Amino acid sequence: MKPHPVFVCQECGAQAPKWLGRCPECGAWNSFVEERPAASPGPAPAGGEARYALPGAGGGARRYDEIDALTAERLSTGIDEFDRVLGGGVVPGSLVLLGGEPGIGKSTLLLQAAAHFARSVGPVLYSSGEESEHQIKSRGERLQIGHAPLYLLAETCLERILEEIATLKPALVIVDSIQTVFSLKFQSAPGSIGQVREAATQLLFAAKGLNIPTFLVGHVTKDGALAGPKALEHVVDTVLYFEGERHHSHRVVRAVKNRFGAISELGVFEMTGTGLRPVPNPSQLFLAERPAGAPGSAVLCCMEGSRPILVEIQALVSGTTFGNARRMSSGVDPGRLSLLLAVLEKRAGLNLIGEDVFLNVAGGMAVDEPAADLAVVAAVASSLRNRPVRERTAMFGEVGLAGEVRGTTQAPLRLKEAAQMGFARVVLPAGNCAPADAPAGLELVGVTRVSEALDALIAG
Ligand code: TYD
Ligand code: MG
Repeated sequence: MKPHPVFVCQECGAQAPKWLGRCPECGAWNSFVEERPAASPGPAPAGGEARYALPGAGGGARRYDEIDALTAERLSTGIDEFDRVLGGGVVPGSLVLLGGEPGIGKSTLLLQAAAHFARSVGPVLYSSGEESEHQIKSRGERLQIGHAPLYLLAETCLERILEEIATLKPALVIVDSIQTVFSLKFQSAPGSIGQVREAATQLLFAAKGLNIPTFLVGHVTKDGALAGPKALEHVVDTVLYFEGERHHSHRVVRAVKNRFGAISELGVFEMTGTGLRPVPNPSQLFLAERPAGAPGSAVLCCMEGSRPILVEIQALVSGTTFGNARRMSSGVDPGRLSLLLAVLEKRAGLNLIGEDVFLNVAGGMAVDEPAADLAVVAAVASSLRNRPVRERTAMFGEVGLAGEVRGTTQAPLRLKEAAQMGFARVVLPAGNCAPADAPAGLELVGVTRVSEALDALIAG
């Protein structure tokens, strides 16, 4: 039987029997591409070809109490910050997707991790469809990775990669990138949704069947989503995003899905001439160039996953020269800024109507938790009054529309970080203020209203 052509939307995976200009599912224009399996129709491999199966599959249902809990054995990548985002190390047999923009450092990080892993755990297969063995080797020289049982494979054919995995039986597999891999079973181009899904699924079976942890590199599109399918995120155990600004040397790896650990964990790195260097104390990095005693600067104790980090919020308020006042923010949601400015006008009596307001989170960080509110209002008020925030003072707390300061989660961790970084006072929601539990040497100032907070934060 001649296989019927199938047209697949490259944005959402919707299928249609003929080409459509606009996807009826997700509304994307010009996203349909013909995908025709070479032999059998449908994404399922023909019987007998599924070489790997999930361990324990095929025995029927089992009682919950009869199943042994998996003692979560973790293998270290040798890079602490990377282990942290993975939830404490690599889980055997897990499939991890690392996404990020081109040039952010995905290949660099994985090559560094591969070398450590090869030395301490066992052989690693690094399969690249983007660079030749020589290019990878010259990067390795630059990273000074030295001797390690690291095997490089410049290959894009999925079947060849699976063969190599089966013969080499490495302790870790890296596929850079999943968009370059193609299966001989499909005629569509590498990077199309069918190819990516097939490659990820086959690699998943290999990872689970042979109990080899596997890392996939994934490209992101210009609007920041993983290229090709969202479907890929469902297949893998863990999804990590590599973020950072091109003009800042620090990079952040964030977990957005993790079947083996907490999400929104964060690993911080710095890109140097010899590769990525872990930054164990990010607060220090983000506060390094803080101008002492300058108006418009406020230090926030924010939480990234389970990790407290101090960041500097900066505001510049200056008279509008003509037209409407401008409000710009980077690192804080602009809608949130407008809301907080309205609260300052109405509840704290600040006159901001004729003022331009610019807000920035130093170091290119982005903060999205409501606990950042207090630092935003403090930075704006400090700049407007042209008086600095009291020295050695940090803050956190959510601000409500009535001008009330509301409690947040994980106050003890935030306070501990502030004390460690040498702060003497923390202004916080009264609901979180428990002086008995405060770290030694840290003065806590609990507040219930925005105006009260500004009095406590800004001198005179
Ligand atoms: P790369 O790991 O190739 O990025 P990706 O795989 O995400 O596309 O990243 C490389 C960028 O980092 C490149 O622009 C050069 C820079 N870089 C350094 O600054 N120092 C180094 O030691 C290395 C290897 C790369
Ligand atoms: Mg790369």
